[in-house]
Amino acid sequence: MMQTAKLYEGKAKILYPTKDPQILLTIYKDDATAFNAQKKGQITGKGAINCTIAAALFQYLEKAGIPTHYIDCPEVNQMRVKAVTIIPLEVVVRNIAAGSLCRQTGLPQGKVLPKPLLEYYLKDDALGDPLLTRDRLSLLNLASSEQLATIEEMTLKINQHLQDFFKLCNIILVDFKLEFGIDATNQIILADEISPDTCRLWDSRETDPQARIMDKDRFRQDLGQIESAYQTVQERVLSAINH
Ligand code: TMP
Ligand code: ASP
Repeated sequence: MMQTAKLYEGKAKILYPTKDPQILLTIYKDDATAFNAQKKGQITGKGAINCTIAAALFQYLEKAGIPTHYIDCPEVNQMRVKAVTIIPLEVVVRNIAAGSLCRQTGLPQGKVLPKPLLEYYLKDDALGDPLLTRDRLSLLNLASSEQLATIEEMTLKINQHLQDFFKLCNIILVDFKLEFGIDATNQIILADEISPDTCRLWDSRETDPQARIMDKDRFRQDLGQIESAYQTVQERVLSAINH
């Protein structure tokens, strides 16, 4: 299998074709990047941890009625997924102000938002994944208005389900990024991954603004104890999912 030519290599995952054209194999890597790959490193064990967390969350969402690309995991760092055409949008939901929202608006870090904020970024590394306005989104024609309505509805439902789930883990879901794809039946399904690489997760039992960080911000900000934070997220997710 591993001798097959890669279909695509991203910053955190590699995609391989399989014998079945409807199924792809994703290998989750330990590589970590930040700031559009200006910062590079490795987080030992991250591939397996993120794959395991993403698999658990995809299965949880499927049970809640959200269609995803998840099929199964042949190994801890490998996921078989349905082949989709990825819509080149990064859909970000924020429940609490952090990261680029604070940098760009001056809102204080940690401010609880009155309602979830949904943002679209263009998935284009060469352009630095710019934030899109509604009009730019329709100008680029990346999705029909019907498809965008579906994405928005799915995203808000996913946010509610994930907030509820992470609450069981004593984790606050600050914000996260989703990607969607179009499957062989033209249905929009959740794709990519949901993991500490793509979410901001704060330990609800910690009040210290640095100690509570359980996600890739530990790597972005050189806070140390990255591996153990990822492992703790995995442990809490698996124990909540098995209840
Ligand atoms: P931001 O505050 O840097 O815009 O990030 C918002 C959320 O999106 C955060 O949970 C991290 C996630 N994210 C990604 O998954 N990939 C990215 O390339 C970026 C910039 C953010
Ligand atoms: N994944 C993105 C990158 O490398 C950004 C980030 O997550 O901070 O560049």
